Amino acid sequence: MPALTEAGVTPRPVTLAPKEHHAKTSPMDTSAYGNSLRQYSGSIQSMFNSVSERYDLLSSFLSFGRDQFWRRALARRLMAKDYPGSYLDLATGSGEQLLAIRSMWPSVELTGMDFSAPMLNVAKEKLAKQGCSEGVRLVLGDVYKPPFEQSSFDSVSISFGLRNLPDRPALYREVKKLLKPGGRFLILELFFDSRNFLAPVHRFHLATVSPWLAGRFFYSQGKAYDYLSQSIIDFPHPAVIMDELEEAGFQGLDHQTYTFHSAMLVWGHKPINGA
Ligand SMILES: C[S@@+](CC[C@H](N)C(=O)[O-])C[C@H]1O[C@@H](n2cnc3c(N)ncnc32)[C@H](O)[C@@H]1O
Repeated sequence: MPALTEAGVTPRPVTLAPKEHHAKTSPMDTSAYGNSLRQYSGSIQSMFNSVSERYDLLSSFLSFGRDQFWRRALARRLMAKDYPGSYLDLATGSGEQLLAIRSMWPSVELTGMDFSAPMLNVAKEKLAKQGCSEGVRLVLGDVYKPPFEQSSFDSVSISFGLRNLPDRPALYREVKKLLKPGGRFLILELFFDSRNFLAPVHRFHLATVSPWLAGRFFYSQGKAYDYLSQSIIDFPHPAVIMDELEEAGFQGLDHQTYTFHSAMLVWGHKPINGA
């Protein structure tokens, strides 16, 4: 069973919080942030705390049930060059990306980090149930203050997490610090392509069907699902993300889109000279 750690330094066993405590987890200390960023992150954290038990179902809704296919595409891309060594999945949530990596590459050393303890508890239970806990570390932490040494990882990914982050350049800086020279960064994200011939159907799904179904099935969390749909509509196109990564100093940038341009995988690496 992986330990859920607060600082990522001394793993200690975690007692799973009773479900009714999930929504009451106190916010992380984000005192290094500006006020508005701290507030924004606090509300994102509360939202994920409150939807943790139903997140996987929601994820399937928003992705037309294609999320597992996209996660495996990330896992394959991870291995396209060579063995990925130590791997960090940021904003790992309920651990689905870790499972996809584990099922394809059983011996990779995996770390998943998220600032929502309830989401990590779901991941922990799921990994244990599927017998995949061995060699997986789950760490409680904020992507803007990751509790790891510099140059700790050969590969870093973030799946469906970037669009919830208010400051992407700050995230890229942190990822660059965490990667070893030549280390890979992969981003999997949903987006909305208004130029796509299926855009009207996609918009209807995101703006009407998903929130309506969420309201029906998830009751009190309906607002959270409105937010998640809107965050997909607002997310930039892959070319913009690649420009941002280039600006941040990543190299070898490329991307692929999936399922009628509803998801993107963007990848690149930190320069070999470590710059
Ligand atoms: C949409 S979920 C994605 C979960 C998972 N990566 C997946 O593939 O399903 C976004 C996750 O990002 C986490 N998150 C958002 N902001 C974060 C931050 N600043 N630091 C760490 N985790 C964060 C949330 O707690 C949530 O679990």
